[in-house]
Amino acid sequence: MNPNTNPFTPGAGMEPPKLAGRDAVFDAADIALHRTKRGKHANTQMLVGLRGVGKTTLLNRIRRLANDIGYIAEQIELRDGDHLKLVLIPVFRNILLQLKLRHPSAERVNESMRVLRSFISNHVITSAGVDVSLCIEPEHGFADTGDLTEDLRVLMVSIGTAARDAGTPVAILFDEMHTLGKSDLHALLRAIHLIQQIRLPFLVFGAGLPQLPNQVSDAVGAGDRNLDRHDLGSLTRPDVWAAITHPIGQLGVTISDEALWAIEDFSLGFPYLLQAVAYHTWNIAQSTGITKQDVTAAIDVTLRRLDESFYFVYFERTTPVEQEYLRSLANMPAGSQRSADVAKGMKRTVTSLGPIRDTLIKKGLVYSPDYGFVAFTAPLFADFMKRQDTAKNLKDS
Ligand SMILES: Nc1ncnc2c1ncn2[C@@H]1O[C@H](COP(=O)(O)OP(=O)(O)O)[C@@H](O)[C@H]1O
Ligand SMILES: [Mg+2]
Repeated sequence: MNPNTNPFTPGAGMEPPKLAGRDAVFDAADIALHRTKRGKHANTQMLVGLRGVGKTTLLNRIRRLANDIGYIAEQIELRDGDHLKLVLIPVFRNILLQLKLRHPSAERVNESMRVLRSFISNHVITSAGVDVSLCIEPEHGFADTGDLTEDLRVLMVSIGTAARDAGTPVAILFDEMHTLGKSDLHALLRAIHLIQQIRLPFLVFGAGLPQLPNQVSDAVGAGDRNLDRHDLGSLTRPDVWAAITHPIGQLGVTISDEALWAIEDFSLGFPYLLQAVAYHTWNIAQSTGITKQDVTAAIDVTLRRLDESFYFVYFERTTPVEQEYLRSLANMPAGSQRSADVAKGMKRTVTSLGPIRDTLIKKGLVYSPDYGFVAFTAPLFADFMKRQDTAKNLKDS
């Protein structure tokens, strides 16, 4: 069928034609936003799940909802190696400038800008010519101790107070939060804790891979009760079907039950895989009644595109020995495995492989579901590894 009218959206953070199976999480976000706006307590909302389950998509949706109900909302995608303070400075600056635009005479906003200026001068060594002065004098004695935890608390309280006085709530949405280092995560969570306690209209959302909850416990202790964790998994059968039939139905196209089963079998309900196979099936189908044969015919191209766009982007950042580790894990049965067994597969000891495993966790390819266990962060990554090996063997022979 005409690719120009193809409704499916395989691609990181791409808004799907039907956001299936995420109503409960979206409703929780909606309540947290409305409560925070009214100055009532709401927990930080944390979206956790494998790659391709729809975390970024949902964050985008929540940010739009926040904007619709009057929030100034900023979304950031964190990257491995980012320094939180450097990432936050332009975010805070944008928030304060928007607050100022909406409320030109709010003195607290100016005050908060001076606190930000103070924070900047004590946390950033600027190279010549870079202007971080905000054209304003610093508020001496505020957010300028040089200790990130302390200064971030003061700064975020100051911004939250400015938001309250201006009557405009603020939200920040952090994507890929698992890339934050321990001390940065600690500083951020402590600051969030304080703004929640004093009920400032400042709400934080986070999204990250399954290692995020452990990192949070490591950073602030397991007793932190100020976070609502939402585990995003694969979609249920009715949601998979809705994700497909709803958009095609609107375009006057039908699909057989066998074709839907085939899509479900291929994708196991994982949103990225589902969008990919549905997208290529649409392009291959000859008529407005999609059949199982269309799905089968689309599998090859779907896998090729998934390998390039979804799997390879992370894989290419790994070294040969890391790839060997991934291969050993891929050769074991699906699901999480004991690190000791992965090491055995490589004829190495767990201790000697510890640093490799840690780097792979840092690079976002594997995570540790339980102590001493390891698993891939992307669904069906083991199959990708096997395809890589087959391709390599064919080339070598
Ligand atoms: N609830 C959903 N229903 C159907 N498709 C979805 C859903 N959530 C996300 N998708 C699709 O899945 C893919 C991956 O989404 P993304 O938000 O990038 O995942 P993540 O951030 O968890 O890696 C995108 O192609 C998106 O269009
Ligand atoms: Mg994402």
